[in-house]
Amino acid sequence: MSKRQQPICLKSDSEIAAIRTSGRLAAATLRKVAEHVQVGVSTLTLNNICHQFIIDHGAIPAPLNYRGFPKSICTSVNDVICHGIPNAEQKLQTGDIINIDVTTIVNGYHGDCSQTFIVGSSATSEARRVVQCAYDCLYRGIGAVCAGGHVGDIGAAIVDCADGYGFSVVREFVGHGIGRDFHEGPQIPHFGKIGKGVELQKGMVFTIEPMINVGTWQSKILEDKWTAVTRDGNLSAQFEHTIAIANDGRVEILTEGTNAQ
Ligand code: MF3
Ligand code: CO
Ligand code: CO
Repeated sequence: MSKRQQPICLKSDSEIAAIRTSGRLAAATLRKVAEHVQVGVSTLTLNNICHQFIIDHGAIPAPLNYRGFPKSICTSVNDVICHGIPNAEQKLQTGDIINIDVTTIVNGYHGDCSQTFIVGSSATSEARRVVQCAYDCLYRGIGAVCAGGHVGDIGAAIVDCADGYGFSVVREFVGHGIGRDFHEGPQIPHFGKIGKGVELQKGMVFTIEPMINVGTWQSKILEDKWTAVTRDGNLSAQFEHTIAIANDGRVEILTEGTNAQ
């Protein structure tokens, strides 16, 4: 998620398979933790469930100690846009929305995905709408991916979708290439112009992870140096997948579940 442009590393089909293996574990971790997203549970408990599940599968939770991040997942509640730090004091309340972001390392390859969950049964229609919007934006972004297209096509599709809801798209945090490194090039802004930006090529693997705000898109970072919140205190939601453009040109979501897991 850094602003520096990292190198773009095109992947062979066997490397894409390795990222798929990691991605499926990340997706399975989200399915596991989903059972525990309930009123009264602390974000630290959710962290510990994910940590244990990942370790039990012989894998590594990528966030732990990444650039000093202290926990194994990110938990971003309500006005937190991303990079919320799990803690024992923060217990989920009915009507909260919480994004859980899981990144695994399996055999040296990263898989990165996140979902926003609605806690309990009393969420406002605004909360439900921003969660639905973030989900729709992710899939509109994925739908814009093709070899020979451009990074800007993805962002343009996402902004078009968010505009339809009257919500805004966060600009300071972007999707990213992924593989042996957590954050590789190219950066994938969730806004842009059709036909602009880096050309999308076979062998690229990257995340799309739109963060959608009910109010203004501006963010600020809290004193813990990680937690990004909306400047105006309004809600924010996010969904993320890791996507590959395979060497036959097929576009594949690598962080989808299988029944086998
Ligand atoms: N998983 C986040 C992403 O989608 C990054 C988290 S970095 C951390 O890029 F250090 F906060 F874990
Ligand atoms: Co990511
Ligand atoms: Co992530």
